[in-house]
Formats: sequence, C-alpha cells, structure tokens
Amino acid sequence: MNRKLTLGAARVSHSPARRRMTVWALLAIAAASMKLVSVLTAEPATINGIILLVGADESQRVVNWYASAQTSQMVQLAPTSELQGGDFPDGATTYSAAVVANTVNGGFNGHAILDNLQENTGYSYRVGGDGAWSPTYAFKTRTFDGNFDFLFFGDPQIGSSGNVPKDGEGWADTLKVALAANPDAELLVSGGDQVETANVETQWNAFLAPNELRSYPWVATIGNHDVGGRAYEQHLWTPNTNRSAPLYSGNPATQSGGDYWFIYKNVLFIDLNSNAYRVTTQSGGSDSDQAHIGYITDVIQQHGAEAKYIVLVYHHSIYSPANHANDTDNQKRRQDFPTAFSQLGVDLVLQGHDHSYSRSYLIDSGVKQNVNEKPGATSVFQDPGGVIYVTGNSASGSKYYALSAPNVTRDPHYGPDPLNPDNHWPNSVENQENVRSYVKVMVRNNLLSVENIRSGTCAAPNAAFEVGNVSWCGPNEGASPALPVGSLVDKVVMHPARH
Ligand SMILES: [Fe+2]
Repeated sequence: MNRKLTLGAARVSHSPARRRMTVWALLAIAAASMKLVSVLTAEPATINGIILLVGADESQRVVNWYASAQTSQMVQLAPTSELQGGDFPDGATTYSAAVVANTVNGGFNGHAILDNLQENTGYSYRVGGDGAWSPTYAFKTRTFDGNFDFLFFGDPQIGSSGNVPKDGEGWADTLKVALAANPDAELLVSGGDQVETANVETQWNAFLAPNELRSYPWVATIGNHDVGGRAYEQHLWTPNTNRSAPLYSGNPATQSGGDYWFIYKNVLFIDLNSNAYRVTTQSGGSDSDQAHIGYITDVIQQHGAEAKYIVLVYHHSIYSPANHANDTDNQKRRQDFPTAFSQLGVDLVLQGHDHSYSRSYLIDSGVKQNVNEKPGATSVFQDPGGVIYVTGNSASGSKYYALSAPNVTRDPHYGPDPLNPDNHWPNSVENQENVRSYVKVMVRNNLLSVENIRSGTCAAPNAAFEVGNVSWCGPNEGASPALPVGSLVDKVVMHPARH
C-alpha cells in the first residue's frame, strides 16, 4: 500500500464530520517537514487491542486501541451500505485520534470519539491511517430514544483460574451465546475485574479477543483487580470521567480510577470506582463513599431529568451473597450507600466482586420496602425509594465463590432473611451453580426487567471447574444436572413508581 496515497485519501474527505483532518492540520504537518519525513519513512504503527466503547450518549461510540508507535492515527467510518467490495468510500468520515505514551508496555494507546452518528444505521470502521489499516469492524446504532435491552457481565477476571486460555474461552463463549440470543442488545456493561492482574497484557489480550467487543459498546467498570495499574484506563476510555483524588484511590501515574456517567436513551448510567471507599486523610478529611454520593448527587441534579431510569454500576457488591459478604469495606459501603441511593431515586444497582448471583428485594434506605415481598417474586411494584441490587455471577467461568451463610457475629446488620434464613436478608434470590451466566436488563417505558441467564453448562469451557478449583457443578451443589444454556436462573419485572 502506498502510504502517501492513504494519507491523501483521508485528506480529501468531503464528509461533514467535525473531527476530520483539516487544512491547517495538514499545513502544520507540512511545516514540520523533518517530522513529516520521519512519519512517512517510519513503518506504520501496529494496531491491536481494538475495542468499541460507550460514548457520552447514544449518538456516540468510542474506539480505543494499543499502538506500537505514535504516528498520525485515526478512525475511518462509513455507513456499511456505502462500502464497495470492502473498500471505504472517498467520503468516509475520519476521526483523528488522541495517541499517548503507554506506561504498561512501552507502546502507545489511542482513542477516537465517533460523534454525530445517525440512528438506525449500520457502520463500518477501521483504525490506522499512517500507511496501514486494521481489519474492518462494524456496529449498528438503534433508535435514539425508547426501549432497549442491555447485558451485564460479572467479573470476567481473565487469568483467575490460573489458566488464561481457558478463562478466555469461557469469556468468548458467554459473549457468543449472549449475543446470539440477544443480537439487538445495545450495551455490554461490565461488573468490573476485566482481568486478574492489572497490567498483564496476555490477560488483556484474552479479554479483548472476542470480536463482539468490536461490534457492541463495552461499558467499563473498574474492579479491585483492575485498579493496581494503568492498563484499565489505557484500554478502556470512559466519558465524563471525574478523577479527583477521593474518587481515585491511588496514584494516577501508576493506577486507575475515577467515576463517570453517560446517558443512553432513557437511562442515566453512573459508574463508580468502588475501590475508593476510605476516609482519605488522617485528619478526617474526605471520605470516598461520601465523595461518590456527592458525585452521584451532582450528576443526578444536572442530568436526572433527562432520563427515565437511573442505573448505578460499581464493582463491590454491598449485598454480597458469598465470600465477600462481610468484608470490612463491604460493611462500610452497606452503611454508607443505601439511604442516599433511595433518596436520589436510583432504580437499579449492578455490582460484581462476589462471583455469585444475587437479586435483592426492593430496598428502601437500607430496609425492605415491602415486608410482604416474597422470596423469588417475579413481579414487584416499586414505591418511591425502592432500589433493586444485583450481583453478577462469573461471566467467564474463571472463578466462582460458594454462597455464604448469613453471619450476624461478623455483621449484625447483615443477618438472615426471616422468610428464607439461608439468604442474607436483603436478597430475594441468591444462586451459585458454578456455571457461567450473564444478566439481561430490559428497559421499557413502564417496566425494568432483570434476568440472570445461564451461558454455560458443566461442560468446557468452564475453567474453574475444569482445573478443579471448584469440585461440583449444577444446581443444588451439583446434586442436579446442569440446566441448558439460555435457561433462566432468575427473572423479575419491576414496575416503576414514577412512570
Ligand atoms: Fe473478581
């Protein structure tokens, strides 16, 4: 490929995009002749790790990648219907990229914000522009308002079984199964812990391998395994991100963090870095849980009226059903969050960290809203202040935790459910079968529904079971045979209070 022609093709774009290369940018390049020579004589950057991410609203997508060099990179975009024989049209839109040094592997990471997208359009895109292009990928926009479905995935945590390839196979299979069953799902929402070890790129490579991650936008959430390095932020750009110290929980030079929000159609999503939870100064200064509440309050005051529902996402489940139920940090969040969430009008909270599934009753300010709500009820009626809290099971099969018995000696505020003493009192459903699953959320004008759906059986890929980290598989601690892929662990329809 002639790299001069490739650059020229970008230059003559007649598209209306705001971010295409402009004449002044080209003049700047020409003036910097030495640099131009070095760019043109350099090998094109090798691009990898491409992922499609959510933008600030439904008319945006973000493409993020790793690059071997800091060349003039861009994303080229065109309606798929305008490609001819796989070639992009001359009028393809070009979005210039921000490319910065990558502290993980000595390379670089880039991203471009694809804005002003049209609704109900199939798009194709590719990354490069310095003489070579990535393969072409495709995504679709949908209507920009109204009903939609999204999928939620608990802790892929690639590498946690001790076998990265097996974890990757389970992760890829869950995405394949989930999107084959729900091809019109519009977002893939993370429960955190994308990988086991923050900066290990072989784990990120396995996480990023499924092509579904280049066709459906990923909504990143930071877990405790992601926070200890820069790779999370370098792989997963997020919109409207606040990285102030109380929301960060670490050194921005060496770690990742921050809270962010976006609006997708009729839902305001707020995604928190729950790794930050402590009082951050010895003198009693800012408490990170209070800082999160302040952030949520500000976002809802400014944007709550633009959405019908409010969905919070963060990693550390406060109503954990399993191993982390009574962790000290969990007990603190369990005291700090529920009243604020109810007062702020949050509808649904999606969480991870415990690698088991739970779905709460409607909880209002830390107590059950309707004492008559039955365990496992499939239809619930929200009064103002009612919030459903969900914990996602492992989406990859890399690690499962066993359900834990309520233990009031560990936390007197997290005892048994009088209606089902095996469960912790807030939880209508707690489940662990040591098979992979994912959560489907249906957003409708007059309801929100939550389903937990099996995406695997005991058969491979099911890494934690394959390698012997768990010894049984299937319902009733393995006493019953595993149920089919696609079958429901749980389903609830919430009829909202204020709609
Ligand atoms: Fe995890």
